[in-house]
Amino acid sequence: MTCGPAGPQLVDRIDADALARLWTAVTRVGGAVGFVEDTPGAEIRAAAQLAAAEVAAGREQLLVLGPPAAPVGTVFLRRGAGPRTEHGAEVVRLMVRPDQQGRGHGTALLDAAVAHATTLGREFLMLTARGGTDLPRYYAARGWTPVGVWPGTLRLGPGPDGLRDAHWFHLRLR
Ligand SMILES: CC(C)(COP(=O)(O)OP(=O)(O)OC[C@H]1O[C@@H](n2cnc3c(N)ncnc32)[C@H](O)[C@@H]1OP(=O)(O)O)[C@@H](O)C(=O)NCCC(=O)NCCS
Repeated sequence: MTCGPAGPQLVDRIDADALARLWTAVTRVGGAVGFVEDTPGAEIRAAAQLAAAEVAAGREQLLVLGPPAAPVGTVFLRRGAGPRTEHGAEVVRLMVRPDQQGRGHGTALLDAAVAHATTLGREFLMLTARGGTDLPRYYAARGWTPVGVWPGTLRLGPGPDGLRDAHWFHLRLR
């Protein structure tokens, strides 16, 4: 029998340090969640505090896999701002602890985000994936529609070699 975390749970708050530990571990091995491998830990912690505050304020919804004090993975939903876009949401910070990747947890989190957005009445989801990684293929394989590429809009390092494309994906919910 294999044991693993129970399915993703909707939570209304998360400890910022716990989120920062996950985010930092994912970043250090090349995860594409807003940072590059050598981003200082303080910068990631500051971002985790902001993200945790958005959840606590109800401006973002968070699904966590595993204990919230030591999450195995997360995914956040960020509703569109204002009357023109609030019928949709963006999927952000999908990440799974490096030693737990490749076991279906990311797919379970993504499915849970889609299900929860549907429950909330959102009509579409969008997300961005970093070019030069396996991620565009990952989302396409999970039914998301590639809708375009913003060329060179992500800067990972200096010079032209430090630029990556942003790949946009869309999922119609109803
Ligand atoms: C992308 C990510 C969330 C996927 O979660 P996961 O639990 O590893 O993925 P699953 O087990 O559900 O699916 C396995 C798939 O991921 C791919 N994959 C990506 N990274 C992998 C890794 N480190 N180990 C194994 N498989 C990996 C596999 O090729 C496989 O693809 P396929 O099933 O389409 O052939 C996870 O790898 C991760 O946290 N990556 C770093 C953070 C990141 O870049 N997030 C994306 C933000 S847009």
